[in-house]
Amino acid sequence: MIQATGLTHFYGPNPAIEDVNFGVKRGEVLGFLGPNGAGKTTTMRILTGFMPPTRGKVTLDGYDVVEQSLDVRRRVGYLPETVPLYTDMTVTSYLKYMGTLRGMPSRNIKRRVEDVIDVCHLEDYRSSLIAKLSKGFRQRVGIAQAILHEPDVLVLDEPTIGIDPIQVVETRSLIKDLGKQQTVVLSSHILPEVSMICERVLIIHEGHIVAEDTPGNLAERLQGSDQLEVEIGGPPDEVLSELREIEGVSSVRHRSLANREVYTIRLLQGADVRDDISRAVIARGWSLLSMQSVGMTLEDIFLRLTTDEEN
Ligand SMILES: Nc1ncnc2c1ncn2[C@@H]1O[C@H](COP(=O)(O)OP(=O)(O)OP(=O)(O)O)[C@@H](O)[C@H]1O
Ligand SMILES: [Mg+2]
Repeated sequence: MIQATGLTHFYGPNPAIEDVNFGVKRGEVLGFLGPNGAGKTTTMRILTGFMPPTRGKVTLDGYDVVEQSLDVRRRVGYLPETVPLYTDMTVTSYLKYMGTLRGMPSRNIKRRVEDVIDVCHLEDYRSSLIAKLSKGFRQRVGIAQAILHEPDVLVLDEPTIGIDPIQVVETRSLIKDLGKQQTVVLSSHILPEVSMICERVLIIHEGHIVAEDTPGNLAERLQGSDQLEVEIGGPPDEVLSELREIEGVSSVRHRSLANREVYTIRLLQGADVRDDISRAVIARGWSLLSMQSVGMTLEDIFLRLTTDEEN
């Protein structure tokens, strides 16, 4: 359905994305996961034909997004990062207006506006001014306008950002439902979110795709090896070299916090070294003040995927 080859985009001297390649099959729900500035929005703008890439090519259902951008836009529904909503319009009149802008026949507009109000659960807000809607409901209006013209592909740029937890849950389930019938590409910086919604995840970091997998495999790859945080009373240089000797330890970082010496120990997959650590500490006559498992933050995950394991 979508084929992107060698996508590169420069805003200034530095590339925002560089040599990005991926494909999306019809009916697939694909997630772009990446931290701020990774290049998610840039990629989505290019996919939807809103901005040409500096280099590279994207086709959508066989249409070139640059050369046949009108054909592409007819087939794509796009929820941009910031939705250009006309806040002095009511929900219904805004949606009708968007239908007209897209050149939909007027009898279709009427029917589709009712449909999308229903799908996005906006029934109670059809006559509300957009200015008076909460962020979550505005986001739903954004999704409603994206699906209005029954596009084959839905591109959603951080659809749940800035909305409260209850509305996040509802918005995610709405997107999941849409994904049953449509091809969906969405971006997020939240790993559990893409895991919940997407069949496949591309991790983008500093403009490059650094990993691609199913959410299940990714979680296994990333969580298989855990981290320990231990506080040890003893000379840091010696403690560091002792910890690094322990089998199953992949790397150790040391921080001094106030008068505490804290070590973050990254473990090899499946290793459990807690016993070895306590024995080593006691044997050297140091004191083991605390030890706890810590999950990986998204930052750790990106670091893990983008840096050499030994560093
Ligand atoms: N209009 C612009 N002009 C100049 N630089 C830009 C512009 N838009 C984005 N960039 C730069 O391009 C890089 C990628 O930005 P992009 O917005 O695509 O990332 P993102 O993954 O969507 O980030 P976020 O999670 O913050 O939305 C960043 O370094 C950003 O500063
Ligand atoms: Mg963005």
